Amino acid sequence: MIKRVRSWWTREDKIQPPERSMDNVPEHVAIIMDGNGRWAKSHGLPRFIGHQNGMKAVKRTTIAADKLGIKYLTLYAFSTENWKRPKDEVDFLMRLPQEFLAIELDELIEKNVQVRMMGDREGLPSYTINAMEEAVRKTEGNDGLVLNFALNYGSRKEITDCMRELGRKIKTGDLNPDDITPEMLGQHMLSSGIPDPDLIIRTSGEMRISNFMLWQMAYSEMWFTDIYWPDFNEQYLYEAVAEYQRRTRRYGGLT
Ligand code: IPE
Ligand code: IPE
Ligand code: MG
Repeated sequence: MIKRVRSWWTREDKIQPPERSMDNVPEHVAIIMDGNGRWAKSHGLPRFIGHQNGMKAVKRTTIAADKLGIKYLTLYAFSTENWKRPKDEVDFLMRLPQEFLAIELDELIEKNVQVRMMGDREGLPSYTINAMEEAVRKTEGNDGLVLNFALNYGSRKEITDCMRELGRKIKTGDLNPDDITPEMLGQHMLSSGIPDPDLIIRTSGEMRISNFMLWQMAYSEMWFTDIYWPDFNEQYLYEAVAEYQRRTRRYGGLT
């Protein structure tokens, strides 16, 4: 009988999160996974190798987030502005979801992970959409970690689409403009059903948001690191979470 090799989860189980990290764990962590290209360059390798290694960091981070008890992990994988890149790089990036899920979907199902996608389906190649939709469909009954891929995602586009939808409802008389509330807007965003991120991480040393979850990040805590995304691992995640736990969130009030 062929013994099935239980891949990454089991292998990484040896690394234990520090004890203190189990209190006040952020419910939703969102990550701007940046620096694949520079990582490759620093190793004298072509950019696509950076993206491939970035995929390994996705695995590691998913395992670590699950172990830590994070409920939602959003990963910014491709922005609405990333189409500006050379065609061969875009084509390569578009193949990654399929490649990642071909290897990992069984394990994600087994580990009770629920895969979601946040972004415009329009413009994505059919193989990318099909791979994502298959993963979403096969994991929709799971109630463990929500792994939310921001793919062809741009916050301004999201907000614009939300405005259009509300505008249409006003036009047909189904909505009174005075009844629009921040909560209603939130429900019309692509992130509907997912709480706002408690902690946003950006790798690669860039100190910017790059059109990511602008509406949802009103009171998110931010954590920046110079580490390039392919080098990100559980220790950095724990470091970010530990820093988050030391902060006081006031939401404009007083403690
Ligand atoms: C992040 O790495 C991946 C995507 C944006 C798709 P980059 O490709 O942006 O890497 P750098 O920023 O050029 O190093
Ligand atoms: C942000 O990274 C988008 C993703 C991580 C998917 P970019 O590399 O596209 O951002 P800029 O261009 O440096 O702002
Ligand atoms: Mg970048």
